[in-house]
Amino acid sequence: MNRIRIRRPDDWHLHLRDDALLEAVVPATARSFGRAIVMPNLKPPVRTVSDARAYRERILAACPVDSDFEPLMTLYLTETTTVDDIRQAAESDFVHAVKYYPAGATTNSDSGVRELERAYPVIEAMEKHGVPLLMHGEVTDGDVDVFDREAVFIERHLEKLRSTFPALKMVLEHATTSDAIDYVKSASGPIAATITVHHLMFNRNALFEGGLRPHHYCLPLIKRERHRQALVAAATSGSERFFLGTDSAPHPKHAKESDCGCAGVYSAPAAIELYAEVFEAAGALDHLEGFASLHGPTFYGLAPNDDFVELEKSPWTMDAELTAGGETIVPLRAGNEIGWRQVR
Ligand code: NCD
Ligand code: ZN
Repeated sequence: MNRIRIRRPDDWHLHLRDDALLEAVVPATARSFGRAIVMPNLKPPVRTVSDARAYRERILAACPVDSDFEPLMTLYLTETTTVDDIRQAAESDFVHAVKYYPAGATTNSDSGVRELERAYPVIEAMEKHGVPLLMHGEVTDGDVDVFDREAVFIERHLEKLRSTFPALKMVLEHATTSDAIDYVKSASGPIAATITVHHLMFNRNALFEGGLRPHHYCLPLIKRERHRQALVAAATSGSERFFLGTDSAPHPKHAKESDCGCAGVYSAPAAIELYAEVFEAAGALDHLEGFASLHGPTFYGLAPNDDFVELEKSPWTMDAELTAGGETIVPLRAGNEIGWRQVR
């Protein structure tokens, strides 16, 4: 297969930032994706429906004029989120989920939840109103190894959440381990996981290949090869519980190449093409459309996009650096060849 045509995909986990950076990065996503779940970790975070409405307007203003890109907004779950915030989210037609960050787990997560149980009344309202809970599924305890944070989250919190709120729609975001895959495959109730392209492409050696590689540093961290293989198997399996979420998270080059560098991989400029590479290598291009364009809408109760994109096997070279909003950003696969090209 040298050319494939799939229904226009959606990105179910995306960081678009704000201001000049927002303007610079929206087109990279809008060129391929019809919609995206936009993460709320701005500074300050998107906490309320009215914050989300204002942020959505800023995103739409930054979209290329010829694009129909639709941002699907999320609220940031804090310890002060109320049941009424959830009711308002459910009543709005543009807030599609609430994102849980454990406090301190990742970029701009200081406002996150310190004790998940304290958010249970709010989560109960989400279950009642059918608002999905998107989870950054990691614990942050200092005595838990950073590579084990996801597995320990599943053990300590996910099981209990699942049994306390059996009808709650849950997404384990950016799944990185075989533990996550096994859990999501076998759990009862509405549950799914997004999988990034960088976690499908790399094992943790990519963090240290010939030297320290800050552009492969993201959270949750890239894991061992056996975990990568479990992610590829799940993504390419055709199971409706797994769908595309890039977690594309741009940071200025100087903030990544620093003594205390930021976590995040900027994959949007070639995301769908890189997923195509992964699916091709797995001999599963016929399952790309389900993963990228069908399973996500089904989970969120939305119709798939009604138009199509076409990808062709025709190598091109990604720029070594991109200029965005007055900053330099290093994209995934910088300066190197990409095997597929979106032609339509
Ligand atoms: C994200 C970011 O930079 O906003 N970084 C990342 O490494 N994934 C935050 C997140 O999703 O954890
Ligand atoms: Zn993210």
